[in-house]
This record gives sequence, structure tokens and C-alpha cells, in this order.
Amino acid sequence: MSEFVIDVHDLHKSFGARKVVEGLTLQVAGGEICGFLGANGSGKTTTIRMLCGLLKPDGGGGTCLGLDVIADSSRIRRQIGYMTQRFSFYEDLTVSENLDFVAAVYEIPERKKEVAEIMKRMGLADRAYQLAGQLSGGWKQRLALAACVLHKPKLLLLDEPTAGVDVKARREFWDLIHDMATQGLTVLVSTHYMDEAERCTRIVYLSDGHIVVQGTAEEVAQGSGLITFQATGPGVDEAAHALRGQPGVEAAAVFGRALHVAGMDRTALEATIKGFDSHGALSWSEVEPELEDVLIHLLGPGEDAG
Ligand SMILES: Nc1ncnc2c1ncn2[C@@H]1O[C@H](COP(=O)(O)OP(=O)(O)OP(=O)(O)O)[C@@H](O)[C@H]1O
Ligand SMILES: [Mg+2]
Repeated sequence: MSEFVIDVHDLHKSFGARKVVEGLTLQVAGGEICGFLGANGSGKTTTIRMLCGLLKPDGGGGTCLGLDVIADSSRIRRQIGYMTQRFSFYEDLTVSENLDFVAAVYEIPERKKEVAEIMKRMGLADRAYQLAGQLSGGWKQRLALAACVLHKPKLLLLDEPTAGVDVKARREFWDLIHDMATQGLTVLVSTHYMDEAERCTRIVYLSDGHIVVQGTAEEVAQGSGLITFQATGPGVDEAAHALRGQPGVEAAAVFGRALHVAGMDRTALEATIKGFDSHGALSWSEVEPELEDVLIHLLGPGEDAG
């Protein structure tokens, strides 16, 4: 049996003529929080659906929790927690009624006790009698998380679980994920948020249905080969605007009060900066690229992957 919780090789999936997943190989170890990143349409949701047996791969295969993703798909579904990109509950039932319903579907023994316990753990106890439809976005997200861990899965597949939720609620949601990972839960989570990517133990970056980069946030940033210069001083916004599209400049963006200019061709980049700021109005230094610089670089020059 595989030592990995997720261990899949060379997965392929097409919809009609459109190849969506093309040769995806992924291993995730127990207790990892693996961030699944990539442009819109790069194949994240499709991959997640193949991992939980909702979608049959056209080619390739492997295991999830030691179970075959094709032959054992129904057993996999019972042992994982899956939070979809657009989850839903019964809006006219209360928090506790929704969880009780889920517990009944999973045939969880000692239902009342388990529901009370999960509400306590997720901080939902004070809202037990509120209608789900009246919760704010952040609390809905928590209810969804509670519902998908109620049956004590060993693997969580979360597809953009915090889209559209405020920064505090997102942070609290991630604290819960880290708490659960400490207790041995393995998590694969797709996200477009940079701060969330940085909270993953490992990042996997998808492009056109296969993995192009993976590693810790530091490894991804440092291994990119991207050269980044930072400038501070008057007029950084104007400088960013003027530098975009110039030779060697792949990206120019202002973070707070600092301008980041990045590219792969050091000679061209340095020449452009020198020519642009010949009066030395700005103060320049070379810095390590931020994860965001690298991910923007990986997204490429503005092509629409969808
Ligand atoms: N059931 C389907 N039938 C036809 N095309 C589909 C189907 N599901 C997904 N696709 C297409 O496959 C491509 C990849 O979709 P997928 O949802 O896996 O991307 P994603 O990485 O999750 O994107 P996003 O970040 O926008 O959620 C998209 O072009 C999408 O339109
Ligand atoms: Mg998706």
C-alpha cells in the first residue's frame, strides 16, 4: 500500500475535445496541507473530483487513502471530506439541524453527541439555533467545514473554501485547518489567495492540467530563477506604469510603498532600469522574489487559460 495519502499518476481527463487534465502526478503525505494553485480553468476542480471518485479519469490512476480511485470510488467518498467550490445547506434549517441531517446521512452513531461536539470545536455552539440562511459568509464557511468533517475523515479536499470571505474569517478558518492537520488530518486545498498559499506546508502549481512547480513557498519562490528589483522613493506608481512592457520587464507592481520589477533576463532588466532611472530618483535594491511575483510570472503574459 502507498505510503502517501494521495498517490496518483499520469491522470488524464478531457471534456469533448478539450483536454483539461494532462498527465498529472501527485503525491501528498499524511498530515500535509497541500495548496493547489493555478489559473482559472487549469484543472484544479477536475483533479479534485477525480481524487474523490466523482469523476472517472480517462487515463492514469492511483490511490487515495490506499483505495483505488477508479475501483474503490464509493469507499473513498465515505472516508474523505469534500467541500465544493459552491457548497450548499438547507437555508431554512438551523445550524444544528443541518449538521444533524448530515450526521444522519452518514449514519453516524451517537448523532446528538457528535453534532454538539463538532459545533463546539468549530465555535458554532452559540449559533446552533440560527437559521443557516441568515449566517454571514464566514460562518457559512465554518458550517460547511463542520459538515464535511463530522464523519471524521482522514483526508479533506477543499475547493476554494474561503472564496469571498473576509480576511479575519479566512484566518480563523485556516487556524481550524492547521489544528486539524496537527491531529493527523491531510488536506488538499485549492485557493487563489496568496496569504493562504503561504500557510500551506507545500504548494502545487497547475498549468494546463499538469503540475509545473511544487515545493514549500520558499522553495517555489527561490527556485523560480526570477530576478526581482525593489525600488522606493517618489513616484513609484508612475515608474511601475512606465516600466511595464519594457525590455526584460515581465512584471512591475507596487506593494505598499515599494515597487517590484521582475524578469528572467538579468541583463535586459538591469539595462532597462538603468536607462529609466538615470537620475537616481528612486532607491533600488535586488530582493528575493515574493511568492506573488513568482505566481504572476507562472501565470504568463496575460493569456486567458479559461
Ligand atoms: N463537466 C464539464 N464539462 C465540460 N467542460 C468542463 C466540465 N468541467 C470543467 N470543464 C472545463 O474544464 C476546464 C478546467 O476546469 P476546472 O474547473 O477543473 O478548473 P479550475 O482550475 O478549478 O478553475 P477555477 O480556478 O476557475 O475554479 C475549464 O475550461 C472548464 O470549463
Ligand atoms: Mg475550480
